[in-house]
Amino acid sequence: MQTWLIDSDNFMKEDTLRRLGAILRNGGLVVFPTETVYGIGGNALDMAAARRIYEVKGRPSDNPLIVHVADPDDAVRYVRELSDDARLLIRAYWPGPLTLIMPKNDVVPLATTAGLATIAIRCPRHEGARALIRAAGIPIAAPSANKSGRPSATRFDHVKEDMEGFVDAIVDGGASEIGLESTVLDLTAPVPTILRPGAVTKSMLETTLQKAVAMGRLASETEAPKSPGMKYVHYAPKGEVTVYYGAIESIASHVNAVVAADEKRRHAVICASEDAASFHVETVLGIGHADDPDAIAKELFSALRDMDRLKIERIHIPAFPEAELGAAIMNRLLKAAGYRTMRLDEKNTKKT
Ligand code: TXA
Ligand code: MG
Repeated sequence: MQTWLIDSDNFMKEDTLRRLGAILRNGGLVVFPTETVYGIGGNALDMAAARRIYEVKGRPSDNPLIVHVADPDDAVRYVRELSDDARLLIRAYWPGPLTLIMPKNDVVPLATTAGLATIAIRCPRHEGARALIRAAGIPIAAPSANKSGRPSATRFDHVKEDMEGFVDAIVDGGASEIGLESTVLDLTAPVPTILRPGAVTKSMLETTLQKAVAMGRLASETEAPKSPGMKYVHYAPKGEVTVYYGAIESIASHVNAVVAADEKRRHAVICASEDAASFHVETVLGIGHADDPDAIAKELFSALRDMDRLKIERIHIPAFPEAELGAAIMNRLLKAAGYRTMRLDEKNTKKT
C-alpha cells in the first residue's frame, strides 16, 4: 500500500491532523512520534484496527496493546474504577512515560487487550501525539512501531524502514526525546508491580505512592517460548550481543584480544563515550557518558539498529550503570543480548 509520509512542519497543521484523525477513525493505521518511542496507532475501540496492528507488526495476538489517551482525565472512560494509587500516579506523571494496568470496562474490545480483563493505558507527553489523538476523537492503541523482535523505533528512518508500505501514514517527529518505552506498572497486582522499567523509575513511583513497588516481568517474557528459537528475541539485532561486567580495562583487553583473533567476522563495540578509546575495534559507538543515562537511553535503540545496517556479526557491550533510568537501559540491553553476559575480573575470567 501507499504510505503517506508527513514531515514535522506539516504534522501540526489543522488540515493534516484532521485527515489523520479521519484515517484513524476509519480503521487506518498511523505511525506517530511519542516522547518514548514511535508507535503504530489504530482505533482502540475497533477490533479490525487492532487486528491490523498485530498483522503489520508481526506480533502474536496474545500480546496486549497500550491504549493512548489525549488527556489524563480520559482514562476513567475505559476502566472499571480508578484506584487511589492510580489517581496519585496520574496526577504525578501524566502526561508522561508511565503506562498503568487497571481493570478494563466493556467499552474496550478484547481484541485490544488480547482477551485480558485488564487494560494498559497511557497519556503521552508529546504534544503532537496528543494533538493526533484529540483529532481522532478516539483512544489510540499503539505498540512500538518496530517489526516484532526488532529494536523499537526512535528515529524517522527506523519507522520508514520497518513500516513504509504497511501503514496509511507515517509522521516524522525527529529523534524520540526519551528513546526507551514507557514504564509499565501493574496496579491490579496485590503490590504495584513494574512489568517494564522506564523513565518513571521505581524510586519515583515509591515516593509518590509512599509504599514499596515490586519488580516483575511482562507476560510476553515469562511465557514458555513457542519454539526454542523464539526465546528472548526482543530488541535483538542480527549479530550476537554480549554484555560484559567488570572493570573497563579488563573488558577492553578481553574484547580487543577476541576481535584480533577473529578477523573473519565483523565486530563492534557499543559503550560509554569516555571508554570508546580503550577498544581497538573498527566500529566503536560511544553513545553517551556513563553518568548521563538520558543520553544513553536516547541513542541505545538507534545504535542497535546500526549494527544490522553495518552487518556486524558480534556486538560487545560493557554494562552501563544500573541506577534509576539505568535499570531501563540494562533491561533492554540484556534482552537484546538474550541474557548472554560475561564477567571479567582482573585475575580470573568467568563466563556466566
Ligand atoms: O512507550 C510506550 O509504551 C510505547 C509508545 C508507543 O507509547 N508503546 C509500547 O507498546 O511500548 P508495546 O505494545 O510495544 O509494549 C506494551 C507492553 C507489551 O509488552 C504488553 O505485553 C504489555 O505492555 N501490556 C499491555 N497491556 C497489558 C495488560 N493488560 N497486562 C499486562 N501487560 C500488558
Ligand atoms: Mg514493543
